[in-house]
Amino acid sequence: MNTLNDFLGRQPAAPELKSVITAVASACTGISRVVSAGAIAGNLGSAGHINVQAEEQKKLDVITNDMLSDMMRSCAPVAGFASEELETVETTGRTGGFLVTFDPLDGSSNIDVNVSVGTIFSILPAPAGRVPAEADFLLPGRNQVAAGYAIYGPQTMLVLTLRDGVYGFTLSAKDEWLLTHERLSIPKDTKEFAINMSNQRHWAEPIQRYVDGCLKGKTGERGKDFNMRWIASMVADVHRVLMRGGIFMYPWDKREPDRPGKLRLMYEGNPMALLVEQAGGQATDAYAPILDVKPEKLHQRVAVVLGSANEVELVRSLSNS
Ligand code: AHG
Ligand code: MN
Ligand code: MN
Repeated sequence: MNTLNDFLGRQPAAPELKSVITAVASACTGISRVVSAGAIAGNLGSAGHINVQAEEQKKLDVITNDMLSDMMRSCAPVAGFASEELETVETTGRTGGFLVTFDPLDGSSNIDVNVSVGTIFSILPAPAGRVPAEADFLLPGRNQVAAGYAIYGPQTMLVLTLRDGVYGFTLSAKDEWLLTHERLSIPKDTKEFAINMSNQRHWAEPIQRYVDGCLKGKTGERGKDFNMRWIASMVADVHRVLMRGGIFMYPWDKREPDRPGKLRLMYEGNPMALLVEQAGGQATDAYAPILDVKPEKLHQRVAVVLGSANEVELVRSLSNS
């Protein structure tokens, strides 16, 4: 079976980009170990403080953020990085090369109940000839040169795009990433939707109408029954969409009208949107492609509607009408 190294060897990408991907993958190998050690290593539970997202940090949020940050500091082509868990960007003093943004542990509210979690990452070009500033990170997702995630589930997998299709690698018992899934493709149609239904009363009217159609199933205008799934780890929900189709939504809601959504553009929205588009799906904020959103700040939030193209298109047309 081909390894990640074999795969990268065949890609036309710059060697510097390949070494950033290798570094991220190697951090994810380490993270999969600390995640699976769980209570044995005393890694579960709260870290006892609130992060920049105003969310309670878990011990593993801190541990995994440190692991990835250390890896980025020691990876020569990385000029700077930003994390969901860090208030500001960190620069390495190097110039050129790449910027990396990451959600070190996505779905960390699931960690204590042993449900799949993951690491999401996005790689952007760094400015030439100078140390990057925070403003240099604020590029629309279309500028990503690569993106992916690792999922720590029954199998540990790395799902990756270098803008030419989406590939999945499974971590072997010898800690090798083996190419197991070539050119993932999201079916255009689906009968599966994922949304946190407990927020239903807060959604905008078009989302209410769309989900109502799914719930009515055969007896409504959609004329087919739908199934619902909600893992509450974006990584795991998007992984299912990449494997067998579906629509995943975390829409804007009325509780905090000035906040575009819950999920973060730079660490969650953009990397997942690139993967989904590369697999033939669509990824919008309900109105327009996420990859075209111009970020105004590092920790910006975004509404997310992604997955099977025909369903995402239906939500878009309901929202824009
Ligand atoms: P994180 O653990 O990185 O803060 O992200 C959690 C996110 C995402 O993974 C998931 O889709 C969503 O929060 C779950 O939200 P609910 O608690 O509303 O289900
Ligand atoms: Mn997350
Ligand atoms: Mn996180």
